[in-house]
Amino acid sequence: MQSSSLRKSETLEIRPIGATYAAEIIGLDLAIPLGDDLFRTLYQLFLQHKILVFRDQVFDDDAHSQFARHWGKLQVHVLNQYHKATNPEIIYLSNLDRDGTPKGEHPDPGAAIWHTDGSWAKERALATMLYGMVLPKSGGDTLFADMVAAYDGLSAMMKQKLDGLIAVHNLDYSRSLTTARQQMTEAQKRAAPPVEHSVIRIHPDTGRKAIYLGQHASHIVGMPIDEGRALISEINAHSTQAQYLYVHRWQPRDFVMWDNRQVMHKATDFDWINDVRTMRRTTTVREKI
Ligand code: OGA
Ligand code: MN
Repeated sequence: MQSSSLRKSETLEIRPIGATYAAEIIGLDLAIPLGDDLFRTLYQLFLQHKILVFRDQVFDDDAHSQFARHWGKLQVHVLNQYHKATNPEIIYLSNLDRDGTPKGEHPDPGAAIWHTDGSWAKERALATMLYGMVLPKSGGDTLFADMVAAYDGLSAMMKQKLDGLIAVHNLDYSRSLTTARQQMTEAQKRAAPPVEHSVIRIHPDTGRKAIYLGQHASHIVGMPIDEGRALISEINAHSTQAQYLYVHRWQPRDFVMWDNRQVMHKATDFDWINDVRTMRRTTTVREKI
């Protein structure tokens, strides 16, 4: 039996692990249902640290989605090839096929470019939760960029230029930039048409401004395509400078969650022929809790 004292927020230890953001939360067993008080505490920590890391978690798909449900509605991702067969709210990302043989490519080549989860949809992602089931011996890190700090780091002139601009986000476009063998099907393209979002977004809880671009952003409304694309590349390059990064080096059984309204991210490479990386993922959508 787990001690219920583990669930008391005052027993939580919070250890910042990045230079400027990301924190490890110690003293929590995510397999035990979360009470409302503890959820509120965690939500404040989530806003403050942008990325929360829980080590050594042992819990199943149901416990994972039960935890996730506190943070909004669970997204059913348009790329249904990654769904768990019996529950489309759970995604498995692995370089192994269902029968255990290497697929011969990254688990999700689409994650290997800088992006914010679900920016290609009208209903944007709030939290993504990734659980490290099997990790490779080296590589397979996740890089994050702090888009609030990146906004703060823009020149006054650039802030003024970006304010009021609207970007078109398009999953089919960003996937075509990757080496993914499986490009989007016609049905998937119809289910995820391009959408528009403002380039600068205001966080509904913190009131802080953040850059909201990444490589799902294809172009800028009212600007020639090439010019908009060049501006998006320039701002993505600005946002991914070393001072805005946190690199998560995975350990097995890490559970990592991030605020897609404040950070963007990307997966790094590993030896996907000879090694294994399998992650379980849920993503929630909701503007405000
Ligand atoms: C994701 C993602 C990064 C990784 O699941 O949304 O981008 O390192 N994953 O697997
Ligand atoms: Mn992602």
